[in-house]
Amino acid sequence: MTVAALSYSDEQLAQTQKGLIRTCVSAVEKLADDIFSYELSAEDLPEFSAGSHIDVHLPGGIIRQYSLCNDPQESHRYVIAVLRESNGRGGSEYIHEHVVEGDELLISQPRNHFPLIIGKGPLHFVAGGIGITPIMAMVAECVRKNVDFHLHYCVRSRSRAAFLEPLRPLLDSGKATVYVDDEGIKPNFQNTFAQPGAGEHIYYCGPSGFMDHLALVTKHWPKDTVHFERFSAGTDQEALQDDSLNEAFEVRLASSGKTYTVQADESIPEVLRRNGVQVDVSCEEGYCGTCMTRYVGGQPEHRDSVLDDANRRSYVMICCARAKEGPLILDI
Ligand code: FES
Repeated sequence: MTVAALSYSDEQLAQTQKGLIRTCVSAVEKLADDIFSYELSAEDLPEFSAGSHIDVHLPGGIIRQYSLCNDPQESHRYVIAVLRESNGRGGSEYIHEHVVEGDELLISQPRNHFPLIIGKGPLHFVAGGIGITPIMAMVAECVRKNVDFHLHYCVRSRSRAAFLEPLRPLLDSGKATVYVDDEGIKPNFQNTFAQPGAGEHIYYCGPSGFMDHLALVTKHWPKDTVHFERFSAGTDQEALQDDSLNEAFEVRLASSGKTYTVQADESIPEVLRRNGVQVDVSCEEGYCGTCMTRYVGGQPEHRDSVLDDANRRSYVMICCARAKEGPLILDI
């Protein structure tokens, strides 16, 4: 297949030296209204685990995150599914309008902030709309390993539901349920998750209101049994980000020792970029993970919805973090 290049800048292409992967779009398929899948191929693709996502780098410096939805056992390809969001920030529209079979696409190494842990009890997967994407990889792994699970899939209508065909065997065997809003088929998660069972875990992903509802109906479950990934900032997190209370702090680069002041109305990436230090950001709201950076000194005030307590001891999402105690020394 001929590889055609989208018009990447030299600076973006140079980043392949720093770990970006040049892939070929080997297949594009319509999955549902406004949803297309893109199969990305390259030699020696890094392995990935269920729940992983990649950053897709688009011309013009746009970076967007997409979950890998194929079986992690497949080593020859990554598959992402992209919902066209007309009121979004433009990344999904660009992909739908410009990315075709044969194009070259720059992507990051896979990262996983939503890992699947297979324990002794049954697993509950709950997906809302395009939140099905990371769940598909988890389901594939559970089917392959014969793990006990049930998938709850909430969609607005069947025409907007991706992956209904591949899920057909699970629907027919009773291992999956689809709730279709415009047919009046609605879930009752309050009942479904009324009682946490021994060894049971819940994994959920979907739009903001769906996430808030799942957080509410699972709040009595042990914290380490509830796992989720957001595609947008959560309401709890937004409440934390009362920028009017921000204070200035200092940030230092470990490699050069240079120290910069981040004013109350600035973010760390803004200050670094102004001083010629390139850092990747995407959502700039603390939920995508693109800006994750190791720190080696100071005490960050974490404001993201990605890192768990263990990761927060070493990493910080610099797009939204402040410092409780400075200087915050970044391993850059
Ligand atoms: S840019 Fe998305 S978490 Fe920082």
